[in-house]
Parts: sequence; C-alpha cells; structure tokens
Amino acid sequence: MAGSIYGTILKISTWGESHGKGVGVVVDGCPAGLPLCEEDIQIYLNRRKPGQSKFTTARREGDVVEILSGVFEGKTTGTPIALEVRNTDQRSHDYSNIMDVYRPGHADYTFDAKYGFRDYRGGGRSSGRETIARVAAGAIAAKLLGSLGVQVQAYTRSVGPVEIEDGRFDIEEMWKNRLYMPDKKSAAEAESYLEQMMAGKDSCGGVVECVVTGLPAGVGEPVFDKLDAALAKAMFSIGAVKGFEIGDGFAAAKALGSRNNDGFQMAQADGRQPSRKAVKCTNHAGGILGGMSDGSRIIMRAAFKPTPSIAQPQQTVTRQGEDTVIEIKGRHDPIIVPRAVVVVETMAALTIADMLLVSMTSRLDRIQEFFGR
Ligand SMILES: Cc1cc2nc3c(=O)[nH]c(=O)nc-3n(C[C@H](O)[C@H](O)[C@H](O)COP(=O)(O)O)c2cc1C
Repeated sequence: MAGSIYGTILKISTWGESHGKGVGVVVDGCPAGLPLCEEDIQIYLNRRKPGQSKFTTARREGDVVEILSGVFEGKTTGTPIALEVRNTDQRSHDYSNIMDVYRPGHADYTFDAKYGFRDYRGGGRSSGRETIARVAAGAIAAKLLGSLGVQVQAYTRSVGPVEIEDGRFDIEEMWKNRLYMPDKKSAAEAESYLEQMMAGKDSCGGVVECVVTGLPAGVGEPVFDKLDAALAKAMFSIGAVKGFEIGDGFAAAKALGSRNNDGFQMAQADGRQPSRKAVKCTNHAGGILGGMSDGSRIIMRAAFKPTPSIAQPQQTVTRQGEDTVIEIKGRHDPIIVPRAVVVVETMAALTIADMLLVSMTSRLDRIQEFFGR
C-alpha cells in the first residue's frame, strides 16, 4: 500500500491494522542526543486510548508502546527508532456482519474498489487504530520541539453544535473533562448533548483546534511545501477530517482587507539577536504568511465528521451487488473528536518538526556559522 510514509527529514513509516498482531512505526531522521524513554510516548498514547469514558469505543486496549531500536542509554542515537504497540482486544466476530456489506461513510467500498480485497476486521488500515503509530511518532516530534522551546497544544473546540466560548477559555479545564474541552460550562453542555445523541443510536462530529507557540519566523518553504499546505495535508490524512482552517480561515473570505491584514510593530526580542524584532499587532493569518511561520502563534482547526458506524438501520449494498440494510453492532466511538485531539496535536508536531529541520539548510550564513566561517 502506497502512502504510509510521511515527512522529508523526520520521516515516519507506519504499519499495522486494527485486528492484526499490532501497529507500529519507524521514525527516521530524529537527531541524536534527544532524551527519550517509553513513558514520553506512553503519555500521548494514553490520551488516545479507547475505553476511557462512555464517549469512546468500549474496546479495551492497553496500547503499551515498546521502543525496539534507536535509543541507547536514554538518548536517541540518530538511527531509526522502531516503536511497536501490540493489539490485545481484537474481537473479530464483532465485525462478521460487515464482511460482505459496505458501511456508509466508511472506507469499505473504496478499499474493495481499489484493491479488490480488504481486511474487513474493524476496518483494517482505515481503522482509528492506525492513528496509534502517528501519535507514537508525534510524541517524539513534540519532545524534539519542546527541547527547542516550541509547544504544540490541541483541544476540543466544539462538539456537535456546542462550542467553547473564548471568554471562558481555561486550558487547565481540558484535563478535567472527558471531552478535552477547555471550557467547563461548554463541556457540561456537550456531555448532555452527547448523551441525548447516543440515546438515539446516532453519532456526531466536532472541531479540534491546535495552537503552536514558540516557533520562530521562517519555517516552511514558499511554494509547494508551504507550512499551511503541509499542515492541511497532515490534518486531512487523519480519518474523518472533512475541513481545515488556519487563522480566520473561511471567515477571511467575508472580511475586508483593512480588517484582515495584520499590521506590524517593533517589539523587544526574547533574548535573540537583534534585540528588537517585527511582530504582528493581530493574528488573522494564524501565524503563517507566504507559507512560512511569521513568529506569532499558529492556530489551526480540523473539522471531524460524525463517526460513520452507527447502530441505526442504514441503506447500503453487498459486495455481491444486492441492496440491503445494515445496523452496525461492534464497538465504536459515538464521537471521534475527544480521541482525535492528541492525533491532531501529534500530526502538527510531526509536520512542524520536519519542516523546521528542512528549514535548517535555507541560509548560507547559518551554515557558515555552523562551520565556524
Ligand atoms: C481516532 C479515530 C477513531 C475513529 N473511530 C471510529 C469508529 O469507532 N468507528 C468508525 O466508524 N469510524 C471511526 N473513525 C473514522 C474512520 O476511520 C473514517 O471515517 C474512515 O476511515 C473513512 O475515512 P474518511 O472519513 O476520512 O473518508 C475513527 C477515526 C479516528 C481518527
């Protein structure tokens, strides 16, 4: 299968499917000397793990990661880092009813159309479990970025029609509710909305917002590898993502230039040379201009559709070409968003860390500085 490799310098190659023996990733291009242990990765995987609340699939998985290579005496060696997570709760019989039937909204029909054959157990490679490998690799990217003062933080912006209010935004709150919403009141409203929705055997979608701080200006390549283009690709590669925005995003289409432009002013630089630097007065652009980071916060949003697998009867067809009705049993997330928060965060971290490494070769004066010239 093509398309399981991502990145230019920090390159990841993921493998594994929902009901195979496990899932994993090889991370190549991570600089040597980064302190790294399994716990650094496990804390990210635990945020993605199923079975943590009634709003996520009941599948019980430990999702325990093992580092197989690339780390010696607690530090990365610069060689490929192989990570593995074994599957332990594969109840294949839960999926026997979808063996010959296409689930509306899922990838069954397109897998068959493309390959003529598919691993129907839990969606195979199109399962949410595929994201384990990205999260594990992205945890390393986040650690690398952290060592450079760059932080990436995602959270739930909305659940169905319930959106957080900026006036009540409290990042600590996201760790206290099961939806990762940084607004206590909205989280409570969203929980009752979900309970009603689940009682009707339905599913819903929502929006994950992600903020990157501490990234200096100049990361990203100006033409085909724009930072915003790379982030859009990263987000659209996550299952169920149907929309993506940077900064004001689609609202910018309705704004006037005089409101949408972010003016500049000179400000004190934080310990860097020169001591004063240009900063933006506002951030409608969301931290990216001309495909390159502009030094302000990068703000992006990914819109997730409702979980395709629902227990209501739905019209579909069989592989043999007969009309039929499907009611999906199995165990599914009634909403993907809470588990996808860390997926968005780690895909953003992977993309930014990779583009930051790519950017290291863009200036001769900095290369000369490295060689002491
Ligand atoms: C973290 C995560 C968990 C998911 N869980 C489920 C699930 O339990 N049931 C389901 O039908 N789809 C689930 N999905 C969505 C499907 O993987 C996705 O909708 C499907 O592959 C079709 O791809 P598309 O929606 O991008 O077109 C999940 C996606 C993610 C990212």
